[in-house]
Amino acid sequence: MAVNDIVVKTDRLILRPFEKSDFEDVVSYYALPDVQRYLDWKARDKVEAKSAFEQMRKQRRLSRPGEVLSLAVVRKTDGKVIGHVSLGYMDATAAQCEIRFAIGPAFRRKGYGGEAVRAAISMGFDDYKFHRIYARTAGKNDGSARLLKNLGMRLEAHYREHALFQGEWDEELHFAILDREWRRGTKVREISRHKVA
Ligand SMILES: CC(C)(COP(=O)(O)OP(=O)(O)OC[C@H]1O[C@@H](n2cnc3c(N)ncnc32)[C@H](O)[C@@H]1OP(=O)(O)O)[C@@H](O)C(=O)NCCC(=O)NCCS
Repeated sequence: MAVNDIVVKTDRLILRPFEKSDFEDVVSYYALPDVQRYLDWKARDKVEAKSAFEQMRKQRRLSRPGEVLSLAVVRKTDGKVIGHVSLGYMDATAAQCEIRFAIGPAFRRKGYGGEAVRAAISMGFDDYKFHRIYARTAGKNDGSARLLKNLGMRLEAHYREHALFQGEWDEELHFAILDREWRRGTKVREISRHKVA
């Protein structure tokens, strides 16, 4: 890894730029149908997954609109890459950011997704000074919607039958949170932690 590469640590995870040796871990989840249906970059086999991986490997900086920062979600206990999270710099004037994420099916429902996305949002607000972070997710993607709601994100739109996806009508949910709302939520979480302790 380069000296200036971003590394974020949480209780159980490390978020860091992808390394060449991560490919086997990534391919084991990236091309699975249950991950693919929710990702923009389509990769139905190992060859396509390789180009998606190479693309994510190049996404290491977030300094101007159009850039994306993609980080591997690595489990501390065994160093395994269990997913990824990316922040997209969408608009400089209004400081808007889109967050995207995936956790391999074998590692889901253990809180890793929430832990990784929380850390990435904090980084987006604290380090990159975004004003608003939003996420788009499929209408039937219950896991993603729950994760985003749990983090305090607001459902701002539900697009009904806005497109066709594999011959069926698609629904899309838009969630978002502002920097001041995030800070307020963080403060509330800290106060309740102290009260419990
Ligand atoms: C969405 C995703 C990242 C969740 O990862 P995860 O590691 O399972 O997330 P967590 O364990 O932190 O769970 C977050 C919440 O969602 C709930 N949840 C997770 N999967 C669920 C599902 N399939 N149905 C209903 N709830 C679900 C969890 O129970 C938890 O809620 P709780 O704490 O109130 O019980 C994962 O399912 C995924 O990668 N999906 C495919 C890619 C995707 O949808 N990306 C989002 C588009 S940007």
